[in-house]
Amino acid sequence: MSASELGVGLLRRLPAETAHRLTLKLTRAAAALRPDPPADDPRLGIALFGRHFPNPVGLAAGFDKNAEVPAAMARFGFGFVECGTVTPRPQAGNPKPRLFRLGKDDAVINRMGFNNLGMKAVARNLSRRKGGGIVGINVGANKDSTDRVADYLLAFDLLGPLADYVAINVSSPNTPGLRGLQNRDELARLLGALVDKRTQRSIEVPLLLKIAPDLDEQALDDIATVVLASGIEGLIVSNTTLARPPLRSLHASQTGGLSGKPLFALSTTILKAMHDRLGRRIVLVGVGGIGSGADAYAKIRAGASLVQLYTALVYAGPGLVARINRELAEYLARDGFAQLADAVGSGES
Ligand code: FNR
Repeated sequence: MSASELGVGLLRRLPAETAHRLTLKLTRAAAALRPDPPADDPRLGIALFGRHFPNPVGLAAGFDKNAEVPAAMARFGFGFVECGTVTPRPQAGNPKPRLFRLGKDDAVINRMGFNNLGMKAVARNLSRRKGGGIVGINVGANKDSTDRVADYLLAFDLLGPLADYVAINVSSPNTPGLRGLQNRDELARLLGALVDKRTQRSIEVPLLLKIAPDLDEQALDDIATVVLASGIEGLIVSNTTLARPPLRSLHASQTGGLSGKPLFALSTTILKAMHDRLGRRIVLVGVGGIGSGADAYAKIRAGASLVQLYTALVYAGPGLVARINRELAEYLARDGFAQLADAVGSGES
């Protein structure tokens, strides 16, 4: 058993949220002690939004909500790290317990409810950041906000200049009514306001919309139309699901968003559906249930230029990132792709 496997085993004996807090504390120390991450296979690099991603495997939002450890996570081999969700004002989130491991299903259910220190604290953390790695910031609205669009604009205005991209989270199931922002007219208003703000303030940062996996064909059509008209650059597919495919764990009926292996098929179907609608006009980021190089490769072949993961880290530990990258490079070589970009969307039949 490796030290990292032992650590994951010990952490799994603790309540889920205690383990997460401890992990954040340990991460900085562990990353500093680690040797440099293995050099990325050159065929894994990809140029997007005028930036060079050394590999396509990113850390999904929710792990580092307050941008405390992005550089440390990059040292575990992530090609990019998404911090947040960050709201304008600090927010405590829902009462505990609100995070549940579903060990028999390689899954998690969470109803955290955007617990975060607020945009000012996160801006301080980001501006102290020294070098290292591509960092996206995921922004959202406070639960008690009376003007949600204004909240996104505030967070974008402050944090956009400090980030390599901004993700607009309209898909958390744990803030009542938030997912309503995915409806056509509301979404058009939100994205229009953000793109206008970006122009007025000359904040040259790409905007990516993060959507839910629980959307029907009509909703997918509407989102595709609005996204194309809006001038934003990317779509992150997907957040956690309210659906409950068959599950075996004790906590299966907890309220909240389900992530991990049982989300893989649904989120990949929605990713493919968006790729069918958008092709290469919009950059797609595939997230949901990735736990291996094969899973990441399936998302890329379904149309993702980048992928992200969170839940599999809880079960496999940080060594997983290097393994996924190694396996991905092997798949590209096996299928004769000289570079990752050539494999994007290649799963079309
Ligand atoms: C999340 N996720 C999430 N997403 C987001 O946009 N903002 C957030 O604050 C959070 N918070 C969060 C907390 C916890 C505990 C989990 C497990 C997940 C969703 C996450 O970014 C991702 O979209 C899903 O978890 C699906 O990916 P995985 O976990 O199946 O790899």
